[in-house]
Amino acid sequence: MKMMFRSQFLSFPRNFVLALLVLAFSSGWAQEASSSAPVYQDKTASPEKRADDLLSRLTQDEKIDLLSGDKDGFSTKAIDRLGVPKLLMSDGPQGVRNYEPSCGLPSGAALAATWDVELAQSYGKTIGLEARARGVHIMLGPGMNICRVPVCGRNFEYYGEDPFLAGEIASHDVQGIQSQEVIATIKHFACNNEEWDRESVDVMVDDRALHEIYLPAFHRCVEEGGARAVMCAYNRLGGVWCADSDLLENQILKGQWSFTGFIMSDWCATHDLSNLPHGLDLEMPRAQVFTPENIKAGLANGQVKPAEIDNAVRRFLIASLAMHFFDRPQQRPELPLDSPDSSRVALDVARSAIVLLKNEKEALPLDRTRVRTIAVYGRFAVQTPTHGRGSGAVAGFNPVSYLDGIRAAAGPQVKVQYVGMPAPAPAIFQTCACAYLEDGKTPGLQLNSDIAPTNMDKEAHSQTIQTGVNLSWDDAHRPPGIPLGREGSLEWKGVLIAPADGNWELVQDGGNIKIGTPPPQYHDGHPEQWYPGDGLRLKKGEPVPFSVSIGVDAGGTGAIHVGLRPIPAFNLTAARQADAAIVCVGRVSGEGNDSFFEEPLVEQELIKAVAAANPRTIVVNTSGAGLEMASWVDRVPALLHMSFLGQAAGTALGEVIFGDINPSGHLSQTFDRDLNDNLAMAHYPIDEVEQPSGLPRIHYAEGLFVGYRGYDKTGNAPLFPFGHGLSYTHFTYAHLQVVKKNDGATASLQVTNDGGRAGAEVVQIYVGEPGASVERPLRELKGFAKVNLQPGESRQVEIDLPRESFAYWNPIQKQWTVDPGRFVIEAGASERDIRLTTGLSFN
Ligand code: BGC
Repeated sequence: MKMMFRSQFLSFPRNFVLALLVLAFSSGWAQEASSSAPVYQDKTASPEKRADDLLSRLTQDEKIDLLSGDKDGFSTKAIDRLGVPKLLMSDGPQGVRNYEPSCGLPSGAALAATWDVELAQSYGKTIGLEARARGVHIMLGPGMNICRVPVCGRNFEYYGEDPFLAGEIASHDVQGIQSQEVIATIKHFACNNEEWDRESVDVMVDDRALHEIYLPAFHRCVEEGGARAVMCAYNRLGGVWCADSDLLENQILKGQWSFTGFIMSDWCATHDLSNLPHGLDLEMPRAQVFTPENIKAGLANGQVKPAEIDNAVRRFLIASLAMHFFDRPQQRPELPLDSPDSSRVALDVARSAIVLLKNEKEALPLDRTRVRTIAVYGRFAVQTPTHGRGSGAVAGFNPVSYLDGIRAAAGPQVKVQYVGMPAPAPAIFQTCACAYLEDGKTPGLQLNSDIAPTNMDKEAHSQTIQTGVNLSWDDAHRPPGIPLGREGSLEWKGVLIAPADGNWELVQDGGNIKIGTPPPQYHDGHPEQWYPGDGLRLKKGEPVPFSVSIGVDAGGTGAIHVGLRPIPAFNLTAARQADAAIVCVGRVSGEGNDSFFEEPLVEQELIKAVAAANPRTIVVNTSGAGLEMASWVDRVPALLHMSFLGQAAGTALGEVIFGDINPSGHLSQTFDRDLNDNLAMAHYPIDEVEQPSGLPRIHYAEGLFVGYRGYDKTGNAPLFPFGHGLSYTHFTYAHLQVVKKNDGATASLQVTNDGGRAGAEVVQIYVGEPGASVERPLRELKGFAKVNLQPGESRQVEIDLPRESFAYWNPIQKQWTVDPGRFVIEAGASERDIRLTTGLSFN
């Protein structure tokens, strides 16, 4: 399958190159333009001049064609007559998804965990080269939405909770991508901070939080990264679809930030013709709203003005001309598809992204000359997740599992035994061993079958009792109560009553399931799906409400199977006998759904069991953001966090476990001890259902106090703070000084590696204004540097603090403001590990 795809793909660029050559010959592009050649063909003219000339030659129909994507869903349309090329697009942030196989780089969250802007630039450059090798013009990334809640399904694609860190990493990534003449598309603009009902949720956020938390990373990518494309978010902001937001698109992006590139919609997120005058330049994936008929009708009734069409097309042309898309083929056939350089960068980033969260009694690194046997547990050891789900998923070439990486690093003298997970017990739910009708006594589940009403007749309802949720259907075997040719829905209802106290694992295939009572933040009618993780702690005899529902088509096949099985006993012999045990657990999240905060119950139990069996138990957690760890973290001496490390994940892990690489990743998000400590969770997933539309709305009532800013406000202790990351060596900080420079300042300090190994420290500079005239967070990250030091080596580190480091967004004056007053400048190894403090006054 892959081969076929690849060869198809390979044949395309050849045709493309041929077409370009013919075009170049006939139009004279290959030569420098002669004096008589039109300006748009003159490579020496500015992109703006060339775009204006082209615009004057395009017909109205051609201009309208350039307002939306082409039929294949990931490209724009060519105008052959004038040599406007078809531009190819690809997802996504961690590699070239649409032209796989391609290099599987670590995720955005992993890149942020490196705190290394040079690496971010090489990462971007690698993506640019991967794109050029495949003829891709526009990369649909990076994504930089703030990680407001740890359960957001797409956190793994983004750069953490802090706007400054996200902006620094993202803008370097953008510069790297565009250095290869590939357009970077920064997304999703703006406030797409949860996947929950992302296509309808309305985000209410105050002006300060919008400007101080949610917009800065985008701003930096526009101003310093020079991003040439922006993708609108699906959600609404302040009652307005992002693609229709004059405020976001015209006023902020194109106005305040002087953005010269073009704005595209997220896929199918264009809502109305008004999106065009409000600033949207390109409808993706294809014309559904910006169709020739609609646009012409809009021109006729004045809803759209010719100048607005020209403006949108002009922006698109300027960006394309600036990237020289008209002047040369985009594909560089001399670049290898499976590039050793890309693989090296993927490995470098993975190495730097591993965060050592905990390391007691020098549990790590393992010494391969002393350790004889290692027992490895957990499904992720072999099914290593290298990426999250959805449009950000890139599998990569030859991904290395954690187990293979550990084995390779361990070498032949160390016995690495993979124990994995025990064989699952049969799912008993399907035979009704613990499912009862709502009376709690009668075994079985009540199945309600509802036929959807049609124009001809009404809805029909029927009820049956079934022994479990275990049904498959096709045209010949229809589900009960829903005949062939009729759509409908099935819902099983009842209570679960466990025969004994214990932990149960959920087995589910299809359907929306609700088990137990949702926590208060899940409002009536929401969520569609609720169960507390993929396991249940049940007490003997205690009824737990349960329902599962599924839609049934008028014909064809369908299936639903739901079951519970007791968590089986683990084989702990290997753990008991080994010198060390490694448990690989975590959770894969993805686009379109939010995730759970807990590790699967079976994995929580596995950690506890292995930790009890082996005192040198190392947990390797893989997830896009923080998970619940407080219930087990005290039982294990060492914990590593991996935020989807791409194809080289296993290699990097093995090297860190055996100390060949000294870990230097730091958290880009606070890890919550308890989800309720996170201020934003009180307003998740929604606060209200708007009437009469019935659409969900959320108030970001915590305002500025997202992540560590919230923890500093409440005084709660996070499990692991923002910026935290240990090393196998130790660093000391000295002589923090801050001097004014231009209209900002420069902080300098000395950092020393006073441990026994070479390593890299992430020095973090925080700024606070205790006596501010407005409420401000206690401290905010405003600078950082990653410093490599040999044992005993000291380095003087200088970090610029430009004027904006001290500013807040003044919602009345609608501008950034620096109050005269005293600022506190802190240097730390994390937000809660402040080593040095000094002050600075502005008059
Ligand atoms: C995602 C975008 C992605 C697009 C194309 C959308 O569902 O939100 O991030 O670029 O699909 O795959």
